[in-house]
Amino acid sequence: MGIDRVGVVGAGQMGNGIAHVLALAGYEVLLNDISDDALKAATKVIEKNLDRQVSREKISEGDKAAALERIGTTLTLTDLGQTDLVIEAATERETVKQAIFEDLLPHLKPETILTSNTSSISITRLASRTDRPEKFMGFHFMNPVPVMQLVELIRGIATDQPTFEACLGVVDRLGKTAATAEDFPAFIVNRILMPMINEAIYTLYEGVGSVKSIDMAMKLGANHPMGPLELADFIGLDTCLAIMNVLHDGLADTKYRPCPLLTKYVEAGWLGRKSQRGFYDYR
Ligand code: CAA
Repeated sequence: MGIDRVGVVGAGQMGNGIAHVLALAGYEVLLNDISDDALKAATKVIEKNLDRQVSREKISEGDKAAALERIGTTLTLTDLGQTDLVIEAATERETVKQAIFEDLLPHLKPETILTSNTSSISITRLASRTDRPEKFMGFHFMNPVPVMQLVELIRGIATDQPTFEACLGVVDRLGKTAATAEDFPAFIVNRILMPMINEAIYTLYEGVGSVKSIDMAMKLGANHPMGPLELADFIGLDTCLAIMNVLHDGLADTKYRPCPLLTKYVEAGWLGRKSQRGFYDYR
């Protein structure tokens, strides 16, 4: 099946990045959110990030204008009914994702592929509550989406081969590279990355190092582009906690227990960059 029109649900940091790269690759994109402010903010971020690419001569002014032209926004989820592929990139909460699918499914064409950008939730379980488990997949982008080369493609137990191949085709057209992961908690990237971030938070919690020294150690000592605490703020501490909880619950191993300091920060509303405060102060 040809994919021309793509619906993106959720205009947060992942959703706006996904809309950005799809539009640049020539797809017609319809970006949906429940908040008009979020849609307006997303459009501004996309423009800013396209400008960045123009100024570094990665794309032309014409490419930027054409990409912006291809992105429509809507507050009405059911407007996504005529798209060929839907990528859900809403909050990392299973109940939220399920509610979106329930509202959307009666309006979707039967052949539309439904995917989730979830970073850790079971694809098989999400799929089982839809009318199309064979046309359901995990389509997991990395942040910042316009920069990161990888997309994780996760097959649920029922996902069929044409659906997988269609999604692989989209990843190719985006100029990105797919890593195929089996459907186990947090897949590949977050199964490895999140315990490292969680361990960095334990290192802080136990007083082994300061925020600055932990990040410096991993940047200069292990050549990571960002320190783990800086990266946690960048990803969002609520997302980090949600992923650790999925690993802890799903694999039932105490090595995945979320650090109490991470829980405390999230309880305080210190969610990292998006709330202006996390391990660093962005105010
Ligand atoms: N849109 C477009 N371009 C962007 C961008 C954006 N949002 N953010 C950065 N860039 C571009 C810059 O323009 C720059 O381009 P050039 O190479 O052409 O100069 C390039 O990216 C590097 O940016 P900067 O020079 O501004 O800054 P930097 O060198 O410090 O790199 C970074 C920034 C790319 C974010 C880098 O720090 C990095 O790779 N950090 C790690 C990111 C990471 O690990 N992401 C994965 C998170 S895990 C995840 O996403 C999965 C999950 O489910 C939680």
